[in-house]
Amino acid sequence: MSPSTPPPGPPAYPVGLRLAGRRVLVLGGGAVARRRLPALVAAGADVLLVSPAATPTVEAMATAGEIRWEQRGYRHGDLDGAWYALIATDDPEVNRAASAEAEERRVWCVRSDDAAAATAWTPATGRTDGVTVAVLTGRDPRRSAAVRDAVVEGLRDGSLTAPRHRARTPGVAIVGGGPGDPDLITVRGRRLLAEADVVIADRLGPRDLLEELPAHTEVVDAAKIPYGRAMAQEAINEALVEHARAGRNVVRLKGGDPYVFGRGMEEANAVARAGFPVTVVPGITSAVSVPAAAGIPVTHRGVAHEFTVVSGHLAPDDPRSLVDWPALARLRGTLVLLMAVERAGAIAEVLIRHGRAAGTPVSVIQEGTTAAQRRVDATLAGLGTAIAAHGLRPPAVVVVGEVVAAAEAATLTALAGRPSGGSTADGSEATAGATEPADAAGGDPTGPASDGGVA
Ligand SMILES: C[S@@+](CC[C@H](N)C(=O)[O-])C[C@H]1O[C@@H](n2cnc3c(N)ncnc32)[C@H](O)[C@@H]1O
Repeated sequence: MSPSTPPPGPPAYPVGLRLAGRRVLVLGGGAVARRRLPALVAAGADVLLVSPAATPTVEAMATAGEIRWEQRGYRHGDLDGAWYALIATDDPEVNRAASAEAEERRVWCVRSDDAAAATAWTPATGRTDGVTVAVLTGRDPRRSAAVRDAVVEGLRDGSLTAPRHRARTPGVAIVGGGPGDPDLITVRGRRLLAEADVVIADRLGPRDLLEELPAHTEVVDAAKIPYGRAMAQEAINEALVEHARAGRNVVRLKGGDPYVFGRGMEEANAVARAGFPVTVVPGITSAVSVPAAAGIPVTHRGVAHEFTVVSGHLAPDDPRSLVDWPALARLRGTLVLLMAVERAGAIAEVLIRHGRAAGTPVSVIQEGTTAAQRRVDATLAGLGTAIAAHGLRPPAVVVVGEVVAAAEAATLTALAGRPSGGSTADGSEATAGATEPADAAGGDPTGPASDGGVA
């Protein structure tokens, strides 16, 4: 039996200590203190650390005034006024003496070196959405941690359903679902999805998650297919309000981030105007995550100190366009174009005309983070031709700038994320992040295709 394994005996009596303003003595400023102190501070305890030395993190907590630190060894009397003690020095004699004093003064005491001699045990704890999970197995701290992780994870992702019994306020959560890979939604978004009565979902975003929803969850398809059949925004707004009015918990699941070319604010305003509570859960935008999944950083030290995200849904000469293309052409950093597949050639032309070099590397990443991800590299001058030659379609992100060539072969696999496949123009398999050079299809008439720096 290891020294930290308590002997068989009656189970511990679980309790939640309310430590706000109450003295807690921590003896020893090492790794155990570093692990336990944040929770004690979060509980509002009046922590006194007694230790000749402390780890940098523990010292920083003392410097920040979160705990008081007396830089010395243990002295009899240190437990005076304490409600609870954590004894964790690396000297068993000191631990024994302090533990004896705690017993004498009837102070509950945890010992890092000898669980059997302790009067209290620290459970494996985790918190999510107002629930504290605390697990004691008595003999097996790893099992406690594993059970804790399973419960917390299950509550977070909704696979462990624990309905709330307090009255729920009907309302709408506008949830950013990330770029498509179901693992790239936030923990909060996933939980709200699991708790929803109705989910109104876009075509983009993590569609796989919809299959996991419980059978009673109604899924409404709000697909807005580009330039095709569309459910008008007005109708989506009305549907959100109608479901909220019917007393349902509504999730509006959107691709990427709701406020990045997502009309999230229009929907939030419509719900708020109708008098229902609205929550917005940010998501991982495709503008950054799709290039990353294909091995392209939007900034890179010494290469790009800025990135600009631009919508290409209107042609540069369209009077409705709010984009100052000549000004963008003068920037040296990275340009990330969304909704730009159809007008990429015209956009490239205006950028070159106003000063961006024709040979600037560009990359087009279609259906990023999904199993169908494709990446095609070209130069700015060859962008339109490459898109046509490779039959690239929305949804795709276009990255313009030297960052396209920043990745080194050895790092690409790690950066690429999901190991996904996609067929290339010549029929060979491309993994996520792999490049189809534009000249494979004779794409770039004006210069050599970028090597893309890929494996
Ligand atoms: C209406 S905008 C919505 C953007 C979204 N709110 C976001 O933050 O990512 C749709 C455009 O986002 C880009 N996009 C979204 N998901 C994508 C993906 N998985 N792969 C490539 N592009 C994507 C495409 O440019 C697409 O035309």
